Amino acid sequence: MTANRRDHFDIAVIGLGYIGLPTAAFFASTGLRVFGYDINADRVATIARGQVPFVEPGFDKLLKKVVEDQSLSVGTSLTSADVYIISVPTPLSPDKSVDPAYVFDAAQSIAPLLRGDELVILESTSPPGLAEEVADLLVSGRVDLTLIPDHANSIYVAHAPERVLPGRIMEEMTTNARIVGGINQTSSERAKKLYERFCRNDVLTTDARTAEMAKLTENAFRDVNIAFANELSLICDELNIDVWELINLANRHPRVNVLQPGPGVGGHCIAVDPWFIVHSAPDQARLIKTSRLVNDSKPDFVLSKIEATLTEIAANVPLPQIGIFGITFKPDIDDIRESPALQITQSFAKAHPKVLLYVAEPNLRELPPSLSALDNVQLVDLDKALNICHVLVILVDHKEFKDLDLSQHNPLAIIDTRGIVKRSGLNQHALSQVQWTEDPTPEK
Ligand SMILES: NC(=O)c1ccc[n+]([C@@H]2O[C@H](COP(=O)([O-])OP(=O)(O)OC[C@H]3O[C@@H](n4cnc5c(N)ncnc54)[C@H](O)[C@@H]3O)[C@@H](O)[C@H]2O)c1
Repeated sequence: MTANRRDHFDIAVIGLGYIGLPTAAFFASTGLRVFGYDINADRVATIARGQVPFVEPGFDKLLKKVVEDQSLSVGTSLTSADVYIISVPTPLSPDKSVDPAYVFDAAQSIAPLLRGDELVILESTSPPGLAEEVADLLVSGRVDLTLIPDHANSIYVAHAPERVLPGRIMEEMTTNARIVGGINQTSSERAKKLYERFCRNDVLTTDARTAEMAKLTENAFRDVNIAFANELSLICDELNIDVWELINLANRHPRVNVLQPGPGVGGHCIAVDPWFIVHSAPDQARLIKTSRLVNDSKPDFVLSKIEATLTEIAANVPLPQIGIFGITFKPDIDDIRESPALQITQSFAKAHPKVLLYVAEPNLRELPPSLSALDNVQLVDLDKALNICHVLVILVDHKEFKDLDLSQHNPLAIIDTRGIVKRSGLNQHALSQVQWTEDPTPEK
């Protein structure tokens, strides 16, 4: 690293979100002088006060320390550094390819600051080839720079995908094995040396395209396996077989581990990244594409189950009150990005403006705007949802729901997309996901 000057940093991190900010703080904690750059001025102001702008257990202490001892500074305009780390969003385009606009903007902000010998790392999840495109963009129109290594004016570029689980970042940032892939050997080696500053597991080197594909492969693997479980749940519904019992039995085979089905796949990684593979190799990625389609179709299946339930009880209760249990994209977090539970709730509420929906979501203090804008949706506590609803729709297996004692309540029907009722021992003999109780009169 070069000697510190006031306006020159060891590392500049571009994009201070769920991934970029912890990365910046961990590097700062190793004694490097780090600059964090973000275009969001509110976010930068929050971080400058030493506050974490999102929920991440245990991270507040580290951030406060590195901001206070000035090993991490932040700002809304980029300043020069020896290493640049790009950690900006890589969302899906409408045609299911990556939208590289944020990455290209970040590269454009770095380009004029390059003098030679810098390392630029792309941490954003990328389709194979994007790191190489970034490298070309950085030196385009710069005859004074080269991507050929080992010259005084060489620019080094690597992809270093991130695989931490939000909620466990303080642990996984240092304990997960890491992959770094350079556009050449020297780029890989430089990136490896850098991440070894805080990564206590192996830092494995490869080329940039393989590193990009490795991250996508991890999420596609998860997606395909969830799709298998989701497809089984559709088959079992058709054949009147209890999918939860089935999976339990199949998993007693010593080499079988079927995942649990659910209402669909959410979040902005597993539901997104496999599409980058499909778009890159559409003729070959047939299983990966089908899995995406199976998982994306599951919310419609759940909606059809709620509709069928309404039809069944219409004679007794023409306008039932529906309890929605969970709207986040997975259990025990407050993240609703790409959440199938949210999608189901919103679609159903819009289609049935006269039916009241009571949402029990212990991880949120208020409904997201997409639901609060609807007159027939209310956030309520768990007891209220249990006491007043005719139909319970369990969409997320939050820990609070797993301990429910449903024997105290008499819903007309339970639509359990996560197998909680089954696993809690109630309705042992129910054979389908829609489980009917005997008493048609719900408690108010
Ligand atoms: N969050 C995760 O769980 C996770 C895990 C692994 C990989 N990733 C990948 O990491 C990347 C970043 O994800 P994230 O969750 O941290 O995103 P995020 O939305 O939380 O944060 C991105 C930040 O980048 C800023 N930004 C956008 N364009 C910018 C620009 N041109 N210059 C400076 N700042 C800019 C935004 O204001 C925002 O603060 C994505 O590619 C994502 O797929 C995320």
